[in-house]
Amino acid sequence: MNEENKSPEEDALSESPRFTPPPTRRDWLGLTAIWSALGTFVVATIGAMRLPMPSVFPESQSAVKIGPPENFAKGTVTQLPELNVWMFRDDEGIYAMSAVCTHLGCIAKRDEKGEFLCPCHGSMFAADGKVTAGPAPSGLAWLELTVAPDGQLVVDRTKSVRAGKKLVV
Ligand code: FES
Repeated sequence: MNEENKSPEEDALSESPRFTPPPTRRDWLGLTAIWSALGTFVVATIGAMRLPMPSVFPESQSAVKIGPPENFAKGTVTQLPELNVWMFRDDEGIYAMSAVCTHLGCIAKRDEKGEFLCPCHGSMFAADGKVTAGPAPSGLAWLELTVAPDGQLVVDRTKSVRAGKKLVV
């Protein structure tokens, strides 16, 4: 409606100090754009503030009790899949070997011959963990094994020992 077409009542009403014209569609679109921009800014700011915090926390316990030595009979090979560790016991003692490939950290699989193959880039390891084919730069880690005061074996996945070192129990 044009200004000239307004009735005198409408004219008087629009000039009243208490008159607020209803929001137009343009006003609504403008407000929506402002609130969307503000929401995006807040979410982006929260995301940016979280960046320095790690999303994945390192495992709190690298040393894990794995039960008494009697659980690992002579001549057996036991996989501890939740730890990515293989346990071996022979006449000379018990030892633990990590299944984590030394190339980029994939989990090597043990085949029926007792050798290990990394499915990611094809590194191969002998039964004692030595590299037989790259690109892995070194062999599978032999892990520190100790006996806790309660008699249980403890494997520490962050401490490696010299290959060939076995725990005599
Ligand atoms: Fe094992 Fe690359 S991670 S060969």
